[in-house]
Amino acid sequence: MEKRTELYRGKAKTVFTTDDPERLILHFRNDTSAFDGEKVEQLERKGMINNKFNNFIMAKLEAAGVATQIDRVLSDTDTLVKRLDMIPVECVVRNFAAGSLVRRLGVEEGKELTPPTFELFLKNDALHDPMINESHAVAFGWASAEQLGTMKQLTFKVNDVLKQLFADAGMLLVDFKLEFGVDADGNIVLGDEFSPDGCRLWDKETRKKLDKDRFRQGLGGVVEAYEEVAQRLGVQL
Ligand code: TMP
Ligand code: ASP
Repeated sequence: MEKRTELYRGKAKTVFTTDDPERLILHFRNDTSAFDGEKVEQLERKGMINNKFNNFIMAKLEAAGVATQIDRVLSDTDTLVKRLDMIPVECVVRNFAAGSLVRRLGVEEGKELTPPTFELFLKNDALHDPMINESHAVAFGWASAEQLGTMKQLTFKVNDVLKQLFADAGMLLVDFKLEFGVDADGNIVLGDEFSPDGCRLWDKETRKKLDKDRFRQGLGGVVEAYEEVAQRLGVQL
């Protein structure tokens, strides 16, 4: 399947149309961004790592019964996916306090959250992805109450599957963000990506950060950390 026209250029991926109206190509770039695109750098190999990482995780989720948009891998950096009508609402589950939760509520980073929390954010860089609630999403027509219910249920299911997967590899899944879309039959399907760009992962023993916080916080060793996570999980790079 060949790329035709550029449909959408995100901060880390470009979406292309193909000859099949029901299929798109996700091209993973080396661009790494933080603070809603304010800080951007090219990190060698990151596109390849995230493409392979995402395919590995999505295959685990499919096996656990979560429908994903993946069709097949095309190359080191490109994946063929089902076309979805993306819902502009990001779903975040947290198992430990970090990031914006710490800033917003003044709680201590690393505090275990039992039960895990669930939050919604509007996907809008210009507004810095503001936190929203279900009634905003329904009132503005971003998603129906039924769709939001499904998204929440699926996000917790993903948490159950991935928390265990990372724990088995000596890591804590601190938090993560998912994006969903609607397929041609009206089903809610997991889209976008799951990679260290959109989650927090800490070493279980040392709590060393192994995710994009290394980039956000200027800790260095960003790609090396992503490679370590991939290697611990057994992702073939
Ligand atoms: P936060 O602590 O900044 O709210 O982020 C929570 C988790 O969700 C963290 O793993 C990063 C991820 N996330 C994104 O990848 N993109 C986003 O736009 C947002 C709001 C969160
Ligand atoms: N994904 C967003 C950005 O690239 C937010 C973040 O990760 O800090 O700016």
